[in-house]
Amino acid sequence: MARHTVRVVGDERVGPVEDAPLLAAWAAFRDRSVAPFTIPGHKGRAGSLWPLLGSVLDGDVPLYGGLDTVKQVAGTLADAEARAGELWGAGWCRFSVGGSTHANQALALAAGSPGDKVLVTRAAHRSTLLGLVLAGLVPVWLPPEVDAGSGLPLGIAADTLRSAVREHPDARAVFLVEPSYLGTVSDLPALVGTAHDAGMPVLVDQAWAAHFGFHLALPRHALAMGADALVTSAHKTLPAYSQASLVLARTERLDRHRLERAFEAGHTTSPAGSILASIDGARALLAAHGTDLLDRTLALVDGARRRLRELPGVLVPGPEDFGPGRFDPLKLVVVLPGSGADGIDVERELIAGGVPVEMADRDTVVPIVTLADDTESVSRLVDVLGTAILAGSGPARPIRTAVQWAGRAGAAMAPREAFFARHETVPAADAVGRVCAEVVAPYPPGVPVLIPGEVVTAELLEALVEARDAGTRIAYAADPALETLQVIVGS
Ligand SMILES: Cc1ncc(COP(=O)(O)O)c(C=O)c1O
Repeated sequence: MARHTVRVVGDERVGPVEDAPLLAAWAAFRDRSVAPFTIPGHKGRAGSLWPLLGSVLDGDVPLYGGLDTVKQVAGTLADAEARAGELWGAGWCRFSVGGSTHANQALALAAGSPGDKVLVTRAAHRSTLLGLVLAGLVPVWLPPEVDAGSGLPLGIAADTLRSAVREHPDARAVFLVEPSYLGTVSDLPALVGTAHDAGMPVLVDQAWAAHFGFHLALPRHALAMGADALVTSAHKTLPAYSQASLVLARTERLDRHRLERAFEAGHTTSPAGSILASIDGARALLAAHGTDLLDRTLALVDGARRRLRELPGVLVPGPEDFGPGRFDPLKLVVVLPGSGADGIDVERELIAGGVPVEMADRDTVVPIVTLADDTESVSRLVDVLGTAILAGSGPARPIRTAVQWAGRAGAAMAPREAFFARHETVPAADAVGRVCAEVVAPYPPGVPVLIPGEVVTAELLEALVEARDAGTRIAYAADPALETLQVIVGS
């Protein structure tokens, strides 16, 4: 095996690549002189056809015929997945190149059979919703609590799950999102206790928190809190390729073979080895240096939070504003209404200033700070953000909860039934009172306001139109301008 080393950015320490079998295989492949007669078709030589195209493809190595033989003789993927499973305390782990979208859908396919009831947070990402459509599961929605002071969603209250379990003892599983897109965390041990007492496994979409459990100042990860499965996007908070995701499970309440089939059902047969190697490398880095790297990043976010809080009217919630372990200290959420600034204008300034952020709507700006940031990058963000907010400040607005966390329509049909029902396109105003056929979600965060099977209400339509007018992108709807909506024929 090649004796490459992993260098930690901004640090003198290096780690042996032997702890990262896929990353080592990637490096070894790049060092070999081969003339592959396998896919991918670029064969590592696209630069000879078009240098620019070659640069895009630089680094792309397939799993089969790259990081391992086509017959998987070396077992590098299984080795890397086992190491990740061990790190997170999971008996089963798979690396996905289809993002947490694919991973969430795999869990839905593993959790029950068509027609089975499941208890699902209504703040679920659309990937879970479409997972329910694919699997034919029928959701009983769990409404999240909201914090009136900050407008943030607070997760699922223990009482909410207790009564859902009492009312639906036949439900097969509980699906949660922890943390929420805005960093808040439910009382997960209490929720897990309730679900397990009722014999239901708990499946947690932890897409935004691959770092949970790797520093004492952070909440423990979902498996450590007793959950049965965890999905996380390595590409969101760890240094990994876009689309890189992990799905990890304990197999006391979930069947390993079913999990495996469910995972394979939607995964490509030609996974990009580079994406897989980046998951492996990020895992090895987290295992070797996670605490130190997170220490540095937590200090950066804490410093940024303090500086931003000095801006008049700006609210920047932190872990001390919530119960212990109920907020991700790495999350920077800038709540603007008190300053009078408009988040969409602020975002424009941030883009112009070279510091684009993950999410901005009128009232909230969410920059993602990761292990790859340093003092310089975070200072630059805070400088530009502070200047933009001050320049845009004006009369304070009341704090409101964004529509995706608040009001909900009543479900008239199961998502799968509505997804496959005959639909028609009608003027949006005429859709009120009818059953929606499509997903409509302000993006980011991609949490649907309307889903197939839910009744369109005037209130939800108005809130969506307001978000659109404020400059938020309305995603997944056939008509993002919201002039028309797709509804079920005869509804
Ligand atoms: C809560 C949640 N789950 C899942 C996903 C999908 O993740 P990916 O982009 O890795 O497919 C997202 C994307 O933003 C998300 O916010």
